[in-house]
Amino acid sequence: MSKTSKFNAYVSAVAHWMPEKVITNRHFSDYLDTSDEWITARTGISERRFLEDEQPTSYAAVKAIEILLKKRGITPDELDLIIVATVTPDMIYPSTACVIQDKIGAKNCWGFDILAACSGFLFALNTGVQFIESGAHKKVLVVGAEKMSAVVNMQDRNTCVLFGDGAAAFLLEPTEDKTMGILDSVLHIDGSGGVHLNQKAGGSLHPASHETVDKGMHYVYQEGQAVFKAAVKGMADVSVEIMERNNLKADNVAYLVPHQANMRIIQVCAERMKIGMEKVMLNIHKYGNTTSCTIPSCVSEYYEDGKIKKGDYIVLSSFGAGWTWGSILIRWAI
Ligand code: UT7
Repeated sequence: MSKTSKFNAYVSAVAHWMPEKVITNRHFSDYLDTSDEWITARTGISERRFLEDEQPTSYAAVKAIEILLKKRGITPDELDLIIVATVTPDMIYPSTACVIQDKIGAKNCWGFDILAACSGFLFALNTGVQFIESGAHKKVLVVGAEKMSAVVNMQDRNTCVLFGDGAAAFLLEPTEDKTMGILDSVLHIDGSGGVHLNQKAGGSLHPASHETVDKGMHYVYQEGQAVFKAAVKGMADVSVEIMERNNLKADNVAYLVPHQANMRIIQVCAERMKIGMEKVMLNIHKYGNTTSCTIPSCVSEYYEDGKIKKGDYIVLSSFGAGWTWGSILIRWAI
């Protein structure tokens, strides 16, 4: 889809930072009725990383951002805007963008958080793109950062084995080359799915109370199969749609970067796109579902390993609580 703006936004730098503490499947099977075999076969996850108790989401985000700024060779005061996608903000408010801005000393920017769960990074990326395309900003930092270990019930085998912590970021800058950068996006929400995946307490509907804590309402609640069914359809539909409307066949696509929630969902999505699994970016096996961090951390790792080339077409696709889902097409420019 060709855009009418003078500039395209392109990804000028990427970085990720994952916590040092590795939590294997065995960690859970030692105290819960689960097994490495079940977790690996049903999800594709072998291990995940957890932040330490005293390290909030912003800790991981700042680590990733410091790496990114160094790679790009710029200082924090050159940033115009910080957008943070997270479902695990340090606090309800101020925003984690404010916390990060202060920690890195980004004196000349503004910023805000975006909440779209597992699609958060795509929603944040598409938002950042608007500020570049309009000419309003030259350097927009888009961050996906989570401390999921802070919001899952470690006694609930249905959810605790699935998630992990981590952070990753993209820097967006303008290019006049309209064949490069973020080329297209398809994003959706459908609030009727909210009943199947949510975290009920702590907001204005169910303010934190002894009762909400006793009932575990501050933890992730997920009806796995309902989410699975919706995710398979939602993610595959938008991925196929973005390819078709940009006249891309599987051969033209270098990579699919799917949200890393479940290996089986990823496989169905790749099949529908007729893309071989060798062209699917994966890190679910080592990090689990890091919510808004899965997609940027995959891209960062593959780029760092020299697996992404300038000119590659890359399709990002996600599905998450909301429902929220979507797909973004990038032509890699660095
Ligand atoms: O990132 C946001 C979007 N989230 C997703 O996309 C997640 C989508 N859903 C899924 O990935 C899968 O539904 C899960 C991985 C969460 C669950 O896999 P499933 O194949 O759908 O399993 P299930 O929920 O149907 O449960 C099958 C059985 C149940 O036992 P019974 O009722 O058959 O006796 C569960 O209690 O597996 C049991 N089970 C477990 N067993 C061992 C559930 N969790 C575990 C576990 N270890 N950790």
